Amino acid sequence: YDIIKAGNINDTYVINTRAEDGIKQYIVQRVNTTVFKNPNQIVSNAELVTSHIEKKLKEKGDPDVKRKVMHIYKNKDGNSFYISENGDNWRVLSFVFNSVNYNQVNNIILKSTGEAFGSFQRLLSDFPAEMLYTTIPDFHNTEKRFEALYMAAEKDSCGRKQEVQNELEYLKSKEGYASKFRKLHDNNEMPLRVTHNDTKCNNVMFDKDTGAPLAVIDLDTVMPGFVAHDFGDAVRFAANTAEEDEEDITKVSLDLNMYESFACGFIPQVSDMISKTELDNLPDGVLIITLELASRFLTDYLNGDVYFKCKKPKHNLIRARCQIALAKDIEKKLSEMQSRLDSFVTIVK
Ligand SMILES: Nc1ncnc2c1ncn2[C@@H]1O[C@H](COP(=O)(O)OP(=O)(O)O)[C@@H](O)[C@H]1O
Ligand SMILES: [Mg+2]
Repeated sequence: YDIIKAGNINDTYVINTRAEDGIKQYIVQRVNTTVFKNPNQIVSNAELVTSHIEKKLKEKGDPDVKRKVMHIYKNKDGNSFYISENGDNWRVLSFVFNSVNYNQVNNIILKSTGEAFGSFQRLLSDFPAEMLYTTIPDFHNTEKRFEALYMAAEKDSCGRKQEVQNELEYLKSKEGYASKFRKLHDNNEMPLRVTHNDTKCNNVMFDKDTGAPLAVIDLDTVMPGFVAHDFGDAVRFAANTAEEDEEDITKVSLDLNMYESFACGFIPQVSDMISKTELDNLPDGVLIITLELASRFLTDYLNGDVYFKCKKPKHNLIRARCQIALAKDIEKKLSEMQSRLDSFVTIVK
């Protein structure tokens, strides 16, 4: 077997077995149960999603189904997990053969990443999202994230509030965004869909020869959510001109060309299945996800760094300032972001 070092949550191995028609490869993963407390719900979500995609691809007569969706194997008892003597959870997935994935993005990879996550949305557009478990409750409940921030500031358990007045004030002034999607949902204007919740290019497998996107992998955080959250987090992560913990915030900005690359892969896949309201809210999704993460970093700083791992002093404050700088830049670019989206819709229709 070979060890794959790419992921940083699960332990992933490639198993090579000798079969009559050559070598067969499988992915074997030890699931990180410290991060994922309910592996049965996670695997149920992944199974529902992958079997739906498999069915849709087969109906379309796609010749490459085996590489375009992972298969989750069951053992002879019908379980998708093998629990070893020491309590570890193991699972076996089909190997997406002749594929690569990337940790560094450029415009071409980002466009393909957008296409992969857009296609994932499209293939699941007729899947009832309420069948999925909400494995991480309130994951993108921005209002709750803001409330947690206010509570942390109120408690001020480490005496750090004084230092972060400006950051607190800025986030407070953006409170309206925190409730925006919930309100649209309450008015039946924004449906819950299947969201991936980790829309990074290293969770897409690409064809080794052509670079074309094949399958979306790493389905541990698949849950009901809003399409603007997946879109927003992908852009927030990939189109930032600086690292997530850049200390010089003048280096932080949203790269509109990178944004456009992701959007130009994503939009054509989804434009005929999402509503006008959903489409018009994709740029706000980028802003809201950025504000949400800023509030999470700042909350953790106020609480004494209990959640995110810190590698240097004030690491969470640096991260929060970085996301706030990014949010401020996104705000300036919102209308430009919207018009670039609209241009892709016109091309498609
Ligand atoms: N089905 C698969 N086929 C080929 N490679 C895979 C497959 N599943 C995972 N990998 C490889 O293993 C890495 C880690 O897997 P992933 O499911 O993303 O776990 P993590 O949650 O640790 O990121 C991926 O980035 C990819 O390189
Ligand atoms: Mg991964």
